This record gives sequence, C-alpha cells and structure tokens, in this order.
Amino acid sequence: MLIASNRGPVSFAVGDDGSLVARRGAGGLVSGLSSVKDQADVLWVCAALSDADRAAARAAPDGHIDAELTPGKTVVRILDIPAATFHRAYNSVANSTLWFVHHMLFDTPNQPGFGLAFRREWESFRTYNAAFAEALAEGAGTGADRGPVSVGQVRAMIQDYHLPLVPRMLAEQRPDVRIAHFSHTPWAPPDYYRLLPDEVGREVLDGILGADHAGFLCQRWADAFLSCCAEFLDASVDEAAGTVRYKGKLTSVAVHPLGVDADELRQRAVAPDVQGQVSALTAITAGQRLIVRVDRTELSKNNVRGLAAYRELLITHPEWRGQVTHLAFAYPSRHDLPEYREYTARVQRMAGEIEDEFGTDAWNPLILQVNDDYPRSLAAYRLADVLLVNPIRDGMNLVAKEGPILSERACALVLSTEAGAAAELGGDALLVNPFDVTQTAEALHRALTMPEAERARRAAALAAAGAAFPPSAWLQAQLDALAG
Ligand code: G6P
Repeated sequence: MLIASNRGPVSFAVGDDGSLVARRGAGGLVSGLSSVKDQADVLWVCAALSDADRAAARAAPDGHIDAELTPGKTVVRILDIPAATFHRAYNSVANSTLWFVHHMLFDTPNQPGFGLAFRREWESFRTYNAAFAEALAEGAGTGADRGPVSVGQVRAMIQDYHLPLVPRMLAEQRPDVRIAHFSHTPWAPPDYYRLLPDEVGREVLDGILGADHAGFLCQRWADAFLSCCAEFLDASVDEAAGTVRYKGKLTSVAVHPLGVDADELRQRAVAPDVQGQVSALTAITAGQRLIVRVDRTELSKNNVRGLAAYRELLITHPEWRGQVTHLAFAYPSRHDLPEYREYTARVQRMAGEIEDEFGTDAWNPLILQVNDDYPRSLAAYRLADVLLVNPIRDGMNLVAKEGPILSERACALVLSTEAGAAAELGGDALLVNPFDVTQTAEALHRALTMPEAERARRAAALAAAGAAFPPSAWLQAQLDALAG
C-alpha cells in the first residue's frame, strides 16, 4: 500500500549537538493513519516541511529519505521539494486558498483576488502534486520488482486538500494502481466553491476524480463534493448511489467517519508525563469546575468567539465567578501566514482582557497556553467538566471524541453544528451555532448545571460514539471500497 500526505509521521529537527533528530508528528491526519505504522509493505510519501527536513532528504543518496517507523515495517519517504515551490503550494494555495474555500473563511469584500501571482502559485501547486505522483508511480514498482509494495494489487491512499491533483496524475502514469483520495476537511458547497477561478475549481475536481474512490468524513461534505461535480463538470453524478462517471472513469464517493482508538488513548493518558500534568493542573485549579478547550490557534477553530462566550457566561451568570476556570490550550499553527499570527495575537489579547476584567487575587478565570504540549492536553481532558468545541467549520474534530473518552468527571460537550463530529455526537452534545456567542455562553451554563445522571448518561454515549470508528476501521473501510 502507498500513502501520500503533505505532513508525514516523521519530521526532523536540529538537535542540541547540531545533528538531525527525527520527531514523530501528530494531528488528525497522522493519527488517522496511525494504524499503518506496524504494517509491512507500506510506503508513506510526504514532503520535507522544514529546512532541516530538506537538508536531511538532500543528504540521502537518492534525494529522499527512507525512514522505517518500526523496523521492517512502514517506510516513510520524505521528498525534497524546493523551498519556494513548497511555500507557494503549501502556504499560498493549500492553506490560504483551498483551506479558506472549504472552511468558508474569506472576508469577501477584501479577499480573495486571483491575479498573476496566484497563477504562478498554482503552477507550483501542480509541480508539488506532480512530485508526489511521480514518487508514488515509482514506489508502486514494476511487476517482479515492486519496491516496498509486494503483495497483490498496489493501492495508493492520497490524503487531503494539499494533494487533490495527484489521483489524476498518478492514474495517467499507472492505470494499474487502485487509487483512493481522502478529504480530512469539509467540502465547500457550490455557491462558495465558485469563488475559485473556473479552471482551478474544475482542475481540483478533475484531479480527485482520477481516483477510483473519494472519501469524506461526513455526509454533508460528500454531498457538497457531488454537487460541485454536477455543477462544474460535464460529469454524470448519481447522488443516490454516490458515484461520479467522468472521462470514462467511475469514482465511488463515500463517508468514512474517523474516531479514536480508545484503548490506546486511555493507556497513553495514564503515562507518567500525563500524571504529572494532572497533578500540576489540579494544584492550580483546586475546587474549580473546569471548561476545557484544546485546538490549534486556527481561524476555523473559532477560538476568539469561544473566549467571547466565556466572557458572556461570567457577565450573565456572575454566580460562576470564582467557581470556574477556563483552560484554553491552543497549539500554534501555520505561523508563516500573517492571518494566523494576527489571530493568535487576538486570542492572547482577548484572554488578557478577560483576566483583567474578572481576575482577583484569589481567582484566575482563565489559563491560556499557546504552545504544543500533548501530555498537558490529555491531562486537561481527564479533568474537564465541560469541553468546548465550537469551530466555524471542521472536517470532523477529534477533540470532541477524545475528551469524552478520557474525562473522569463525565464531561458535557458543547459542540458546533458545523463540526463533522456533530453528525455522530449531536444527540448527546449541546449543539451551538458557532457564530452565536450568546447561545454558546448559555450552553456553557447548561453544561455546568446539567444534573449528574444526565451528564453521566450523555458522557458514556459520547465516549462510545467517539470510539466507534477507530483509525484501523477507517482505513479498512476505504480499502474495502477500493476492492469492491
Ligand atoms: C488539518 C488538515 C491536515 C493538517 C492538519 C495540521 O487537520 O486536514 O492535513 O496536517 O490540519 O495542519 P498543518 O498545516 O500544521 O499540517
């Protein structure tokens, strides 16, 4: 099996002694694919993301690194993409354009504007996708010599909005390979997708339809994709069957929800580093109810309106002052983009305002941490009374699933209707419109006052739903779809 993703499971950093140290990656996509790490015959192709990664790839004999995740098992091939190409493909096209379209993030009176600069960036996006297609075509091997992939028909599992052109490019080079594409993001409805230049919008759809199978995290996103195919391509779309016939090829389109490997997560959450964080957080929040959020500082995650809702809670329900603490853990993200740097600064300003307005010598209303600390996040899940997950739009959102699995206080979940997870968790979460700050504040109050029995019942159902589709089942469902 071949896997392709922008961010791989390993990246390199310069160690204290100046040598390169391999680091394991995290994130929804990487955890979704975690079950492949111990499989033989897997080649996982990803990009060099940093100068350290590029240097390591360039120093390797074939111009790419092959790292084994587990000896004799999955091989990770890190491609050396020139920094300028990577920057235009990743920052300008994938993260500033396609991500914004699918999450509907544009401030349209001002953005986007597609001129000559964008056309150059689009060229780099093609080059970037072509580098992956070539690496996969080569990794698929030939007849007797199939490289690391040796058994049965070769399958290529291509991940996410960074690589939508790869299926078509690969299918043209290797019609013998069975190809699946998976979108970890939402998909924009046609009226928003229409923002893209016509030919770009069509090329993205055409690219994915080079695959035999296209997967999405929930029905809304799959339906939006089918609607875009019907509207922008001369394709036959069968919405009921979930198929698109285009350029003589039939692509099946289906939903594969992704959840959590609950046993693995529970085991990780009792490791000594997490226990240490539980003790530290317990010491500084003793006697308080805890409202927890764990996100990247990400425009689509809606951190600022989340803080605004907490502020409204403290205004409209002053009885919570001195009784509750909000733990807001926000991993830094995509700081090459000015919008993300500004957003992070807004989150920090707003947190400062809440502390100034409500904090006392005896009570700290809010603890905001903008750094990456996985053990601390797991500790926060264990201690949460309420989990706040309020994205503007989100492919799935695994935090909404991880939190209830680990919470020792049967946490209540306040969840945006616009998260893919709402389709599975909506019955037992308190659903909110992510733009409605007042409704979110009221939902936080309801979550804090929910009767014990109801909390316990809902939390158990949420934990079961979160564990229903572990990564191994998610991947297997796609392999089955490719076989069918
Ligand atoms: C989302 C995307 C992933 C991406 C992750 C982190 O979950 O769907 O493809 O890897 O965000 O973003 P980053 O740009 O840091 O890899």
